[in-house]
Amino acid sequence: MKLRYKILSVSVILLAFAVLALAIALSYTSACGPSPPLAAGATPMKAIVHRCYGSPDVVRYEDIAKPVPADNEVLVRVHAASVNPLDWHYLEGTPYMVRIDGGLGKPGNPRLGVDFSGTVEAVGKAVTRFKPGDEVFGGKFGALAQYVAVAENRAIAARPATVTHEQAAAVAIAGVTALQALRDEGHIHSGQKVLINGASGGVGTFAVQIAKSFGTQVTGVCSTRNLELVRSIGADQVIDYTHTDVTKGSERYDLILDNVATHSLSDYKRILTPQGIYVGIGSTDTGRWFAWLWKPLQGWMLSHFTTQKFTTIFADLNREDLATLAALMEAGKLTPVIDRAYPLEQSADALRYLEQGHARGKVLVTVP
Ligand SMILES: NC(=O)c1ccc[n+]([C@@H]2O[C@H](COP(=O)([O-])OP(=O)(O)OC[C@H]3O[C@@H](n4cnc5c(N)ncnc54)[C@H](OP(=O)(O)O)[C@@H]3O)[C@@H](O)[C@H]2O)c1
Repeated sequence: MKLRYKILSVSVILLAFAVLALAIALSYTSACGPSPPLAAGATPMKAIVHRCYGSPDVVRYEDIAKPVPADNEVLVRVHAASVNPLDWHYLEGTPYMVRIDGGLGKPGNPRLGVDFSGTVEAVGKAVTRFKPGDEVFGGKFGALAQYVAVAENRAIAARPATVTHEQAAAVAIAGVTALQALRDEGHIHSGQKVLINGASGGVGTFAVQIAKSFGTQVTGVCSTRNLELVRSIGADQVIDYTHTDVTKGSERYDLILDNVATHSLSDYKRILTPQGIYVGIGSTDTGRWFAWLWKPLQGWMLSHFTTQKFTTIFADLNREDLATLAALMEAGKLTPVIDRAYPLEQSADALRYLEQGHARGKVLVTVP
């Protein structure tokens, strides 16, 4: 065998071993370990943690160290939080790619939750935007706890006086996702026909109202029991997916926001106008490995062969968009829809309920 073929064969074998080793490392799940004792001198606080990847059964309600804000951070006393599908992806460590960020084998940071609303209790010495006593809301990993420390230039904004802590806690991930999907990816503008598939869930209930605030005609797709809810938040038309397949209808849409990916892209293509835009944000089946990548890849390829655009968004939590959502709430154009609330110690039940995939608006956690 020629030398270059030998080198090639060895390289292929080494690459195969590297891929296999990475796959094993990513999919390996450690057993749930004991909770470490509190560091000497730490002040305890109640928090929801997971010491291993798994179902909501591995979730614990524990005393952990209360964070001490760094110079650029704000210490927030959390009054309410809300749960998102993102939380159970981190809880379960699936798709496995999540573990690149969350930790291989077991979570690097055991805390859970992102969305919060609360009161600033203390600020670091370099903080200029907030002071103790300010009412705030936003997103920070570890929000299912009595306290979070948030950098002042990250996803934190003043809570509008017109909404309660519970309503504000519902906003961050779902609201910002809906806003960025419609405005940044969908280039929404007045007079358009907009379809929201999955209009009754966390993202959907924000999306219907935000789309209306842009002066569009909105059609929401949901199940029978949610028709009235989706109508009540402003949808001009509602379609019951248990009776009607929206992709078989004669209506054409300028913009489709798809929260559930229940149809093929060719079905969506049929009901898009020639210059229409499809924005996918999620799927009812993300799988353990790369199933979640399939639709974005298909969309990217399809967009090269048509005047329509098929795109996917991964939302980016930031303070500017929180402020935009706060302004909409203050103007009475956006009211978070709350499905139900669980006390902090029952956060596992909140996650179990959300994971069933039929939340009506947002699922909250109230913090003592
Ligand atoms: N890309 C991102 O940055 C990003 C950000 C946030 C969320 N996401 C993803 O977006 C998805 C939605 O998130 P979410 O917070 O809105 O979830 P959610 O609150 O659990 O809402 C799910 C909704 O989907 C509806 N639904 C289920 N099957 C349906 C169907 N066949 N047709 C139409 N609607 C259906 C349910 O309504 P019924 O009860 O009426 O069935 C429910 O209201 C998730 O997959 C999540 O991971 C992605």
